[in-house]
Parts: sequence; C-alpha cells; structure tokens
Amino acid sequence: MSGGWFETIAEAQRRAKKRLPASVYGALLAGSERGVTYEDNLAAFAELGFAPHVAGLSGQRDHSTSVMGIDISLPVIISPTGVQAVHPEGEVAVARAAAARGTIMSLSSFASKPVEDVVAANENTFYQVYWMGTREVMKRRLDRARAAGAKGIIATLDWTFSNGRDWGSPWIPDRLDLKTAARFAPQALRRPGWLWSFAKTGRVPDLTTPNLSAAGEPAPTFFGAYGEWMGTPLPTWEDIAWLREEWGGPFLLKGVSRLDDARRAVDAGVTAISVSNHGGNNLDSTPAAIRMLPAIADAVGDQIEVLLDGGIRRGGDVAKALALGARAVLIGRGYLWGLAANGQAGVENVLDILRGGLDSAVLGLGHSSARELSRDDLWIPEGFTREFGRSSSSNAQAPAAASAPELV
Ligand SMILES: Cc1cc2nc3c(=O)[nH]c(=O)nc-3n(C[C@H](O)[C@H](O)[C@H](O)COP(=O)(O)O)c2cc1C
Repeated sequence: MSGGWFETIAEAQRRAKKRLPASVYGALLAGSERGVTYEDNLAAFAELGFAPHVAGLSGQRDHSTSVMGIDISLPVIISPTGVQAVHPEGEVAVARAAAARGTIMSLSSFASKPVEDVVAANENTFYQVYWMGTREVMKRRLDRARAAGAKGIIATLDWTFSNGRDWGSPWIPDRLDLKTAARFAPQALRRPGWLWSFAKTGRVPDLTTPNLSAAGEPAPTFFGAYGEWMGTPLPTWEDIAWLREEWGGPFLLKGVSRLDDARRAVDAGVTAISVSNHGGNNLDSTPAAIRMLPAIADAVGDQIEVLLDGGIRRGGDVAKALALGARAVLIGRGYLWGLAANGQAGVENVLDILRGGLDSAVLGLGHSSARELSRDDLWIPEGFTREFGRSSSSNAQAPAAASAPELV
C-alpha cells in the first residue's frame, strides 16, 4: 500500500520505510553516533504528563499565532531539510501543503528546488543558510532569497561535522549518472512505487543544490556544497551579527542549547531562536531539545521568540512544547515521512494530525487556545530539565541514556 490517508506519523514512517529504497530511507532517518540524542528527543516527550478536565471545557478553540511577524493558523512550521529525493516535487510539494494548512515553509540551502519555485508555492517561506562561502558569496545568496520573496532567514549553527552512525550510514551518490544508477538499481527496483513516481516525470532524483549557484552557473552537487561548507572558517558572534545586519529582516538562529548562547543571540540582534539539536543529527549526547527549553525560554523569552524543534511526532508534543515556553515548533522527519508516503497530501495529513492532537490537548486541559498552555498543565518529572551555560558549574545533569534507533 503506498499513499492514502494515515492516522499517525508512526504509520507514515512505516509507509515511508516500505516505499523508499533503503538508502533514501536511511538518509531521512539520519541521526549520529550512538543515537542517544535522536532517541532522547522522542523519549523525553513521553515523560511529560497531562491530566484532563471532564466538564466546563471550551467548545471553540483557536490555535493561531505568529512567528517572526507572520500569522499562522497553528503553532507548527516546516523545518528546513536538505535534498529531498523522496518525491519528485520535493520542497515544492511541502511548500504547497504548508500553504494549504496556513503555515510557514522553511527551505534548506541544500534543497533540490529553486527558492523562486518554493516561494511561488508558499509566499510565507523562510530561507535557511549555513555559514559557508565568502561573505560576498553569502551576500549574493541572501540577495537571491530576498529577490525571490523569502520573508525571513534561518541561520543554522548547530553542526560539528560529526560522522558515523552505529547502525550504518546510507550510500548517497554525488550525482546520478548511469554508473551510480546501476549501483543504486537493486534497492530501487525493490521499491517500484517510488521508482514509478520518478519515471512518470521523466527525471532522476535531483542531487544538486540549485540555490547555491551563481546566476548562469551549474548547481553544485550536494557533496560539492558540503565541501564548501566544511572549508569555510567557522563563524564568530560578530559574523552572526553581520549576517543579521546584511539580511536586515526577520532572523531565526537555529540550534541553541545553552543559556549563554541564547543570551549572545539576543545581543547579536536575532528575532527568534530555535532550541534544537538538529534532530539528533549533530553532536550525540546533547539532551532532548524539550529538556533544554524551559531554562532558555525563562532566560530570553521576553526578549525574542523562542521556538523548539526535535522529536515532534504528535499534537500532544506540540502542546507540551508550548506549555514549556515555546511560541511554536518546527517539524522535520514528521513531514518527510508524510511526503514519502503520499506527497503533498501526506504532508497535509501530517499537519492535520498535529492540529487534531493539539486541539484534543487544549480541549482536555480546559483552554480555548493553544496560547493559554502553561507549565501548570503538565506533570513534569523531577530531574526532567537540562540546563547549560548559566555558569560553568551548573551543568549538573547528564543526558538520559538511550539505545540506538531501530535499524533501517
Ligand atoms: C534528513 C534531514 C535533513 C536535514 N537537513 C537540514 C538542513 O539542511 N538544514 C537545517 O537547518 N536542518 C536540517 N535538518 C534538521 C531539521 O531542520 C530539524 O532540526 C530536525 O529534523 C528536527 O527534528 P525532527 O526530525 O525530530 O522533527 C535535517 C534533518 C533531517 C532529518
């Protein structure tokens, strides 16, 4: 069975696993090292409890909010994810789904579709950048995103080039030519539905990064772009302030896990931060983002917008993040599973699942809006939170131990 409506994100993931060639599914599962962070992102949400009321509940509920000045109908936005060889329409299908459900699309620098096409599909698009290339090159890329109509920038900083996964990394070709197609064929042929979806378009999956090329030049390959990123001297806080100044509009810094960094982000003039560990793909043993959220929201939530990403798989998770101080959340794998399972409709399905689950939580907790959620709505086990960077002696709690993710 490929496509069709699914009732949970777990089911979308099962269908994605069935439909995609093993290496494509493995690239989406990602994670790093032992998978401690990947697992903790999921496990931590399950530790938080709700106790619903039974009478006097609100018959009408509203979950709208805004992120960096953009009104959205639910506090869930699309997180940027790199090359989406999951579906022929890739990021354009995701952007359309987000627009259909009244929310924001974020486009990765490593995306497979041009920013112009994505903004045409969703006028509320943020463009994500890494610190890569010279300042001149970065400026040129920002100018292109601005000219295309991107409404904000996401600067993703949580990347330490860690490599290796205990469950094995997928083989990703640099480009799909005849030789690589032949090597890829055995696993692709076992996934005729996925193969057919590309065959119909007459194109092979796009492994280039069109938003990183200069006008008139061919797009670099994924690994070509990765090499440019690895070769760029690492940014300072002054560099980040320069980037923000250069963009001059709404600016989200993604990947914050410490109080001292959150405060420096405020000083650098950002509009928003996302408390994040890159979905468990970066430095393994970083605790779940939800554990680090409360201290950071308390420290800077009155000065900038605080968002969260990592581990959101149900509407109740969204409610928990909002109750602990997030203004909204970003989702990654959830919509990738939806896209793989059923294209644009699958991503809409995922957003509907999150809306439905959030609405149930808000109903049961006796509110009329997700904006009313607070810590009083949760049972928070002792020792749940993690706090880093208030002072060097306060990093007392270690991350929870976890086993490696289920293998592909
Ligand atoms: C396959 C994959 C590719 C990703 N690529 C990017 C990227 O290009 N830029 C970025 O800022 N984050 C990237 N991320 C991180 C996501 O934006 C987000 O932080 C993470 O997926 C959230 O965790 P979740 O998948 O549990 O929702 C990627 C994540 C995955 C799973």
